[in-house]
Amino acid sequence: MSVNLSSVLISDEIDQKCVDVLQENGIKVLKNTKLSKEELLKEIPNHDGLIVRSATKVTADVIAAGKRLKIIGRAGTGVDNIDCNEATKRGIIVMNTPGGNTLSAAELTCTLICCVARNIHNGDQAMKAKKWSERKALMGCELHGKTLGIVGLGRIGKEVALRMQSFGMKTIGFDPIIPAEVSAKFGVQSMPLEDLWPLVDFITVHTPLIRQTRNLINDEVFVRCKKGVRVINVARGGIIDEEALLRALESGQCGGAGLDVFTSEPPKDFTLAQHPKVVATPHLGASTSEAQKRVAIEIALQFVDLVKGKQLFGAINANAMTDALSEESRAWVTLGQRLGQLAGHVGGQATGNIKVTALGSSLKQSGSYLGAAVLAGYLTTKQQPGGDGVTLNLINAPAMAKEQNLQVEFLQADHCPGTYSAMVTIGLSDGFQASGTTCNGGAVLLAVQGKSFPAPACLSGNVVVFSAAESTKLMADISGAVAEESLTSLTLKS
Ligand code: NAD
Ligand code: MLT
Repeated sequence: MSVNLSSVLISDEIDQKCVDVLQENGIKVLKNTKLSKEELLKEIPNHDGLIVRSATKVTADVIAAGKRLKIIGRAGTGVDNIDCNEATKRGIIVMNTPGGNTLSAAELTCTLICCVARNIHNGDQAMKAKKWSERKALMGCELHGKTLGIVGLGRIGKEVALRMQSFGMKTIGFDPIIPAEVSAKFGVQSMPLEDLWPLVDFITVHTPLIRQTRNLINDEVFVRCKKGVRVINVARGGIIDEEALLRALESGQCGGAGLDVFTSEPPKDFTLAQHPKVVATPHLGASTSEAQKRVAIEIALQFVDLVKGKQLFGAINANAMTDALSEESRAWVTLGQRLGQLAGHVGGQATGNIKVTALGSSLKQSGSYLGAAVLAGYLTTKQQPGGDGVTLNLINAPAMAKEQNLQVEFLQADHCPGTYSAMVTIGLSDGFQASGTTCNGGAVLLAVQGKSFPAPACLSGNVVVFSAAESTKLMADISGAVAEESLTSLTLKS
């Protein structure tokens, strides 16, 4: 399953390498980083792909205006400037370049830890103002022997830990999905947050900004920490409650902060950034030539791989497509869609589960895409003519099915009985059943309602399915009508 991208719009400042790689692979590119919202809405319908950093706000109306849009790429990690739910509903892939800027963000974090510990910002300001005598007020602290609490032990959290250990810091942390034995391997002792707060001299956060992490560091947390605790945020503004931080800085409960990110960017209010105990940078975590080159090349290559049907990497809303790209899987995706359509037309209204059974060892990995393909086929038959015109695919079908309380119950077994090495059967709650397999890259139907075809019937184009008592005349009449309409007829043994 490849994606046809003839034209891509790049609307944020992204390294030229991105343009080069796309163009070298035959994709037309328009790079315009000066588009107003209105101009973006006018331009987006001309493109199949969009690449952004964090400046372009890819809101629901932008996505809706992108009638040809198939993919939105973020040259970076956070996708909080993209309405991912809307993209998923419209069957548009959203992908990022996880890891491309990890080292740069980790290095900035370590830099801020050092700056906060040694008042580098104040020292620099004093020197620029020729105030040598201020050095007396700029007593810092050593990092050696201090405890660093790392909240979020993913890519960046881990790299920060490894680097700060070389300063002699003890690293402890918390992450709901990284097991303690995994973090122990990179020297971080994992513990619940309530145990971590009283132990730390420095806290650094490396989580996404989600409901659970918004204002994670708040008044209550500051109270539970040692007086003078220092905090660093190179993740997302809002993980540290900015008002609580200001109060803690004023009271001395917080000894200093290093901030690269803010609740609103640029900040509406610069009080925090201007605070003498704060070292602030304007979202520079990924701003190194190395990281920008890396994310630019990575996002372009990810687009190219998808066009070539090679692999899907970095997609955050297209699980079903990850294993659906190989030549062999494509035929099974088509079969799933066709069986779903057949169920939608011939079966009744599915409620609850659609049972999808994949038999044969070659279908071991088919769970992710077969269910989505069946749902896409089935739901297409239930779309109202003149509805919102969204084309159902592997990305939006599962989400749409969920909205209708419809889900797939997927079963897989290695043994496939009979003459075929693999086959798929689907069943609706009303008893409708059909099974099929693939042949020469196409989908074929083997049986409907438990009745098998004498020879597998091709499942492409328009198909007529009927069931009748055996009658030579009826067969001749139907075959004649089918031939006139260029349809494929499937005869069931009665
Ligand atoms: P990642 O996905 O590798 O790691 C994030 C980790 O946070 C995950 O392991 C996740 O389990 C954990 N997490 C989620 N909820 C949590 C919670 N409630 N408590 C503790 N941990 C939780 O991401 P990453 O690449 O390490 O990026 C981390 C953050 O840094 C992201 O917000 C990203 O957008 C941001 N970032 C900022 C810059 C910058 O320029 N300042 C650059 C790169 C990344
Ligand atoms: C990210 O999430 O990757 C960062 O915010 C860096 C960027 O600005 O792209």
